[in-house]
Amino acid sequence: MLAAYAARIDRTDPLAALEVGERPDPAVPDGWSRVHLRAAALNRHDLWSLQGVGLSDDKLPMILGCDGAGVTDDGRDVILHSVIPSPIWTGEETLDPRRTLLSEKHDGTFAEQVVVPTANLVTKPEAMPWSVAGCLSTAWLTAYRMLFSNAGVSPGDTVLVQGAGGGVSTALVQLGSAAGLRMWVTSRDEQRGARAVDLGAERAFGTGERLPERVNAVMESVGAATWSHSVNSLNPGGRIVICGATSGDAPQKAELTKIFFKQLQVIGSTMGSITELRRLVDFVAREGISPVIDQAVPLGQARDAFTRLAAGDSFGKIVLTMGD
Ligand SMILES: NC(=O)c1ccc[n+]([C@@H]2O[C@H](COP(=O)([O-])OP(=O)(O)OC[C@H]3O[C@@H](n4cnc5c(N)ncnc54)[C@H](OP(=O)(O)O)[C@@H]3O)[C@@H](O)[C@H]2O)c1
Repeated sequence: MLAAYAARIDRTDPLAALEVGERPDPAVPDGWSRVHLRAAALNRHDLWSLQGVGLSDDKLPMILGCDGAGVTDDGRDVILHSVIPSPIWTGEETLDPRRTLLSEKHDGTFAEQVVVPTANLVTKPEAMPWSVAGCLSTAWLTAYRMLFSNAGVSPGDTVLVQGAGGGVSTALVQLGSAAGLRMWVTSRDEQRGARAVDLGAERAFGTGERLPERVNAVMESVGAATWSHSVNSLNPGGRIVICGATSGDAPQKAELTKIFFKQLQVIGSTMGSITELRRLVDFVAREGISPVIDQAVPLGQARDAFTRLAAGDSFGKIVLTMGD
């Protein structure tokens, strides 16, 4: 079958580690199901994998991809939950220290077929387009948990999203505005900020710009470049929910004094549970939310898609499509 996979690790040039070509069809272990993929979106995770973050040489070659939706052997339309707990784990899957995401230990979704534990399948609503279903498993699930499980906000509260154009940021803006939150964004680029406003953000600011008033919560995925601004932008008692650090994880100042003096809470957030994925899928379907898609291209053009993601020019999700 056709697949996009990490053939090697390259810490400085991730695209040099990517191959698009034939891989063997997967075997189906007991308790797992085969899914014939129809759509799967890219995430920053796929670039990290090519750079050896969460993926070691002994696991290569590894098919990339954490998002995905498709049809099972018995004809069920499904969205995949990408968090695979270890066999003996009984608690919430994201808290399992041995959990993996698809493409870390088991092959991922940038292929014509993938196998996943049958318990990791969520039914796709009939009317939901494949391109939408193929976006929800990672960035959108992460945004859902950050905003609705971890931010402690209510409709009418103001939430600042650092970065406007990334997959997590656009999901936060679309989900938050649909839920009655006042979503503010920052961006390095005025046009990307304006696009976030078109998506439902109330206001857009330049990266690091002083805000007209402090906010109830900040959604952080940029990391070092925006950390001080996140701390300074919060009301006393507010929360920073952090899921990533695209610009690095060592900010110039940790801002420890401001964090304790203003009694801020810093909450780490990773992916979401299958229950949260089901709730996200229902919410997106019921509210008629269309995740912003930068471009959708056939799996065979995966290299172009990776090149666009790596360049940082995309706004929203880049989706690979499979089948007709
Ligand atoms: N923990 C989890 O489960 C989880 C799940 C998904 C993603 N993540 C992580 O979350 C992060 C975001 O992922 P993503 O898929 O949304 O894509 P991404 O492509 O990493 O997002 C880039 C975003 O960061 C902003 N940005 C990048 N560099 C910046 C800089 N130097 N200064 C200011 N802003 C900067 C961009 O905003 P502008 O271009 O508009 O300025 C854009 O919104 C990644 O690090 C990813 O690994 C974690």
